[in-house]
Amino acid sequence: MELDMDERFAIRLRREVLRAPERLGDAIELDWQAMKLRVIVTGAAGFIGSNLSEKLLSLGHEVVGLDNFIRGTRSNLQSVNEHENFQFLERDLCEITALDDVEGDALVHLASYKIPRYTDALDTLGFNALMVKNVVDHCLKHKLKLIFASTSDVYGKNPSVPFHEGSDLVMGPVTVKRWAYAVSKIFAEQYILAAHAKHGLSFTVARLFGSYGPRQNPTWWGGPQSVFIEGALNRSPIEIHGTGNQTRTFTYVDDTVDGILRCIVDQKACNEIFNVGSEICSEITILQLATEIWRLINPADGEPLLKFIPYSSFGNYEDVMRRVPDITKIKSMLGYKPKIGLREGLIKTIDWRKTATAQNS
Ligand SMILES: NC(=O)c1ccc[n+]([C@@H]2O[C@H](COP(=O)([O-])OP(=O)(O)OC[C@H]3O[C@@H](n4cnc5c(N)ncnc54)[C@H](O)[C@@H]3O)[C@@H](O)[C@H]2O)c1
Repeated sequence: MELDMDERFAIRLRREVLRAPERLGDAIELDWQAMKLRVIVTGAAGFIGSNLSEKLLSLGHEVVGLDNFIRGTRSNLQSVNEHENFQFLERDLCEITALDDVEGDALVHLASYKIPRYTDALDTLGFNALMVKNVVDHCLKHKLKLIFASTSDVYGKNPSVPFHEGSDLVMGPVTVKRWAYAVSKIFAEQYILAAHAKHGLSFTVARLFGSYGPRQNPTWWGGPQSVFIEGALNRSPIEIHGTGNQTRTFTYVDDTVDGILRCIVDQKACNEIFNVGSEICSEITILQLATEIWRLINPADGEPLLKFIPYSSFGNYEDVMRRVPDITKIKSMLGYKPKIGLREGLIKTIDWRKTATAQNS
């Protein structure tokens, strides 16, 4: 009798847990230690991919990382490269054969193009669609569980915050190219759910909300906190897009990785969608974030140096005015709880940035 993908993954988890029977009945934290999975990570040389790979290896799992270095860096892989359980393959996931010889138990798909603020919407739409098709085909062929990194941006302009997993996805007009990123992720989510319905693909969609921390790209590709840290370290005016009154929540990368780990190993995560982010009470304006970062880096200064960039300078651009997750579902179903507050996380990130800058100079 042919097992479906969920059954196959559940049996693999049970078998691994049974290898360490003393851990049976313990909390999920211990299950991670008990299992030995081989996890394929696309986008492994990127920010979240490198942090996730490091964590998986520290828990005793094997990792096969793939990246084409279009955004990720070789230095991001420094801490994992020599690990005996880490294998790296330089591959372009848009190529139909990219995953042909890659085996594992689960595949975390992180490789992606992002908001085309300064880049090309055609790349974001075309490459993200090609990659998800190749990844889904591979997972179906080899009966792998797929964990897909989606984004908070899929909720778009929905004015009703906080966003929960069943909230409407509200896009702006197609003439605004920034929506290309959200549309590419919505397409991927729909594609994955359709592959589940038609072929039994086993999946989890993790909608990540603004993650930050060590190894993040220092440009806008990495997000506002990256650019603000660079600005404050160089004592150059921090660029604020729009008025700065738009709000966000920020999640330290260890908490983001913890959420993704739970999506990989917890059977209850199968065929579900989860927001992975911070509590509603951590919502702050972009202006407050810029001020906090400036004061942490330049405590003797009275006021931060700021430079306001009107949205019109990006052409036809729209921003999301409030982006706040409801994380009730992942907390109650998977036991997720973000642990690192913004100030603590920013201090760690700034320390890393200073060290990385010193090493490169
Ligand atoms: N960082 C965040 O706050 C955040 C928020 C929401 C969603 N996400 C999603 O999480 C995932 C990881 O984000 P990140 O911040 O680590 O991004 P990142 O840009 O640092 O990492 C993505 C990696 O994918 C690689 N890549 C891109 N195209 C590729 C291709 N064709 N073949 C092989 N590799 C390719 C890049 O080189 C890069 O290393 C992305 O899917 C992103 O959309 C991130």
